[in-house]
Amino acid sequence: MSEQLEEILTRYARGDASQLIPALQQVQERFSYVSPEAVRQIARHLKVSESEVYGVASFYSQFRFEKPGKHTIKVCLGTACHVRRSDRLLEFFERTLNVTVGHTTADGLFSLERVACFGCCALSPVVVVDDEVHGRMTTAKAQRLLKKYGS
Ligand code: FES
Repeated sequence: MSEQLEEILTRYARGDASQLIPALQQVQERFSYVSPEAVRQIARHLKVSESEVYGVASFYSQFRFEKPGKHTIKVCLGTACHVRRSDRLLEFFERTLNVTVGHTTADGLFSLERVACFGCCALSPVVVVDDEVHGRMTTAKAQRLLKKYGS
């Protein structure tokens, strides 16, 4: 990973702190997350502190610090979905998978995320697993989804 990181960082001038967000975006795009090693290398290259890198990256929800699971479950908490109790679906996934939003299960199988709106509110409540949209979700359907993707 460090060679690939080096290659990404050569695109940014050494010590140019204004490149922090573009550098983070490139790293995230390549590896799907920003590892502690990436934070260290970005900090060294742009001559900022590691806590500054974490501070900026944590401010933007697009950045994640944990390796994503094999499958990503996204639960919509937009208004239409929320009215149809998508918060209960989110709780169901958290409880069943023993994971909190923004994190990956211990076995690396699932990451859990929440989204503001997928743009298909007529299907609410909506859950998207990887790129597959599942509308009119219920906890019974959610249970089946976990079986399907977990095997
Ligand atoms: S509010 Fe959930 S898809 Fe729009």
